[in-house]
Amino acid sequence: MSLEFVSDYAAAFLRENDIEGLKPQISAAHKTVAENKNDITAFLGWADLPFDYDKAEFDRIKAAAKKIQSDTDVLIVIGIGGSYLGARAAIEFLKGPMYNEIDDGFPKVYFSGNNISGAALNDILKVCENKRVSVNIISKSGTTTEPAIAFRIFRKYLEERYGKKEAAGRIYCTTDKARGTLKELANENGWESFVVPDNVGGRYSVLTAVGLLPIAAAGCDIDKLMSGAACAAKDYDIPDIDKNPCYKYAAIRNAFYRKGKQIELFVSYEPRFVMLGEWFKQLYGESEGKDNKGLFPAAVTFSTDLHSMGQFIQDGTRIMFETAVTVNNTDSDVVIEKEENNGDGLNFLAGKTLSYVNQKAFEGTVLAHADGGTPTLNIKIDKCDEENLGRLIYFFEKACAISGYVLGVNPFDQPGVEAYKKNMFALLGKPGYEDRKADLEKRLIK
Ligand code: PA5
Repeated sequence: MSLEFVSDYAAAFLRENDIEGLKPQISAAHKTVAENKNDITAFLGWADLPFDYDKAEFDRIKAAAKKIQSDTDVLIVIGIGGSYLGARAAIEFLKGPMYNEIDDGFPKVYFSGNNISGAALNDILKVCENKRVSVNIISKSGTTTEPAIAFRIFRKYLEERYGKKEAAGRIYCTTDKARGTLKELANENGWESFVVPDNVGGRYSVLTAVGLLPIAAAGCDIDKLMSGAACAAKDYDIPDIDKNPCYKYAAIRNAFYRKGKQIELFVSYEPRFVMLGEWFKQLYGESEGKDNKGLFPAAVTFSTDLHSMGQFIQDGTRIMFETAVTVNNTDSDVVIEKEENNGDGLNFLAGKTLSYVNQKAFEGTVLAHADGGTPTLNIKIDKCDEENLGRLIYFFEKACAISGYVLGVNPFDQPGVEAYKKNMFALLGKPGYEDRKADLEKRLIK
């Protein structure tokens, strides 16, 4: 397992002093994390999580995953934001985006309750026909509308199909240890429950039961995931930025922000990274985008998006830099064969693998984008397995926290998420929102 952070391709866009000047702030941010880890209100529980977690619950997660594998064809994972993105990102990263189409003996995992689309929900209900179904409902607050609606529907589906008693054995609930509507329902109905720790926020929760149960149920090795993260927790706790690639990344993205960059593009060259890009967007978007500050996190997959976003990145408004995650060793490859008549003119590639061609695409793109004024930071990982993923997750989590402190925001709140909810509740006629409803209706264009 390895992770290498390469900033050389971006060197021409930075001055020595840009990073030197940030060292005191990185150091202060390091201290803030180190000194407040035990303050439950600081939401720093993710920092030591890879070794300081509830081992008995971890064993229960593995046992529940085994049970799901033995009695379930389709696992519906209901949750939104931090209660869904990490699990989906991990499963797609480890098994590939086609994981539900490829039969590997493990349950298919579908994600619901992350939107309010009736069509999407009906499609998942269709997938359940003639399949053995279980549900994992995940909500830290236990009150979020999107998953609550989906869970009401899937719970009824399970109870009608299996009867209340058997349905109860097919519902797994991940929520607060004591509070919330979901916890009350779980207690009343005897659903097996797992805990989202108080001091871990949603977008930092992939290494808790929130991510671990779906990931384990899909057949992935959560011991290795945690051990990769544990190595990262140790390596990225070194205060010296020159010995800590995680802090160096945090410093450079702040340096770019100060130089006027407005967008960070998470770039990958493998479709299995698409959902990891979504997870990255939430992690950095919710952590840094506040007080009228922050880099806007976006994600692209190359070479696919070189044929859609490539023009803008090369040549449009000069507001972005790229963070490209590349993989040194692929476990699945294709060799391009020689053809006698060379009708398509591709024989110059004969004998080459697709990963070789992909690497040349990366190299060509990095240099072209640098010429166009878009610098690239490169994070190289060894391969797409659990240990490397654990390390990568922790790298981005810690860099996000450090970077947020350097930016001068609280990386662990998300006050802005409430505004749409209040309006939606008012417009839906939820009791208590009457005044807001009257005001909003005056402003709505009929
Ligand atoms: O990062 C966060 O805190 C949010 O994205 C939450 O995860 C999301 O809003 C879902 O909340 P909950 O788990 O309470 O349903």
